[in-house]
Amino acid sequence: TGMVTLDPGFTNTASTTSAITYIDGEAGVLRYRGYPIEQLAEHSSFLEVSYLLIYGELPTADQLTAFTSRVQRHTLLHEDLKRFFDGFPRDAHPMPVLSSAVSALSTFYQDSLSPFDETQVELSTIRLLAKLPTIAAYAHKKSIGQPLLYPDNRLGLVENFLRLSFGLPAEDYEVDPVMVKALDQLFILHADHEQNCSTSTVRLVGSGQANLFASVSAGIHALSGPLHGGANSAVLEMLGDIRKSDDDVDTFMTRVKNKEKGVRLMGFGHRVYKNYDPRAAIIKKTADEILQKLGKRDELLDIAMRLEEIALNDEYFISRKLYPNVDFYTGLIYKAMGFPTKMFTVLFALGRLPGWIAQWREMMEDPQTKIGRPRQVYTGVPERDYVPVPDRG
Ligand code: CMC
Repeated sequence: TGMVTLDPGFTNTASTTSAITYIDGEAGVLRYRGYPIEQLAEHSSFLEVSYLLIYGELPTADQLTAFTSRVQRHTLLHEDLKRFFDGFPRDAHPMPVLSSAVSALSTFYQDSLSPFDETQVELSTIRLLAKLPTIAAYAHKKSIGQPLLYPDNRLGLVENFLRLSFGLPAEDYEVDPVMVKALDQLFILHADHEQNCSTSTVRLVGSGQANLFASVSAGIHALSGPLHGGANSAVLEMLGDIRKSDDDVDTFMTRVKNKEKGVRLMGFGHRVYKNYDPRAAIIKKTADEILQKLGKRDELLDIAMRLEEIALNDEYFISRKLYPNVDFYTGLIYKAMGFPTKMFTVLFALGRLPGWIAQWREMMEDPQTKIGRPRQVYTGVPERDYVPVPDRG
């Protein structure tokens, strides 16, 4: 056997080159295609950022209009796919529903599966960007037992998604511009994050030349874990548990620091950011403002702020360079918007989608790409001889 390097969790191994996203974990820098996240969050829109990530440049006004209307034209789900939502149990978690529906797209759109046909990849890209918000809203409607609306393509992507999530058939749904702007910004902040767990999954599945729908469906499952995208719902559950229990914030912190099994300060820590997460800095600034504008002052926000204050001044967290990450405050905003906790990670998936697509496409176009096939270090028993059943002690 040749020399194999062991690197559990890939803490020190680059799996690919990439020209999409730049992170400097020490300095707290995040850039998409060279543009600082702070500038994009303030001035851009989610669809524009999606275009930037996927095609490499900011769109001209004409390109953005054409891209927006292409996405708008594909928001409908096939009626047969819509029926899938009746088949899931009412209390189904929306993340596996989302992943199943994306997986099913490869049965409905067999004309856009080839990973090497540019026209087909482009069509799958648009279909995914257009249909994922519809699928996500239907997963939510299904879980609360309300009828599924049809998309209204006079609306923008985020407006459409909010109307599909909260509107009712016989009512005009008033889209709240404060909510639209906040959600659009949150999607921008989530749009890509180089080789994280779900993106690496999308690439690994795609490296075997599986189609884009199959690869993204796998990425959604990867995102669902509580150490990854699932952290945003886990934060809210943690805050709720602290409020409900007799424990005060300090008792909870002691349990975290004693490393009780399964007890972590959710929404804290990051593999790459060791000083601060620039996304969290932006979110923290807007969280308070948005909660105020929506008129939802939340007791849980106070608990979160208290936890943060303790952690930032505590030796345990300081020595391990643990800071609030993107998931620490998002849940409170999503809750104020009216989403149930189960939907939070689905919202992360909606934001991350353009990143997954951009990374998958970059890989497929790269002549250096090989099938992903990590090595291992074997630790099992050495060779031994088979023993027939009657002779086994
Ligand atoms: N609370 C308490 N202790 C922690 C935490 C935390 N949130 N995060 C890390 N630690 C400790 C960990 O026990 C270890 O201690 P020691 O050195 O004594 O063994 C040390 O800090 C290093 O942690 P690690 O688990 O080796 O670090 P990692 O890079 O493998 O994990 C992480 C990164 C994000 C999975 C982890 O910090 C974590 O579990 N955080 C909580 C879950 C979370 O918020 N995830 C969202 C990540 S950001 C965006 C996303 O991907 O969704």
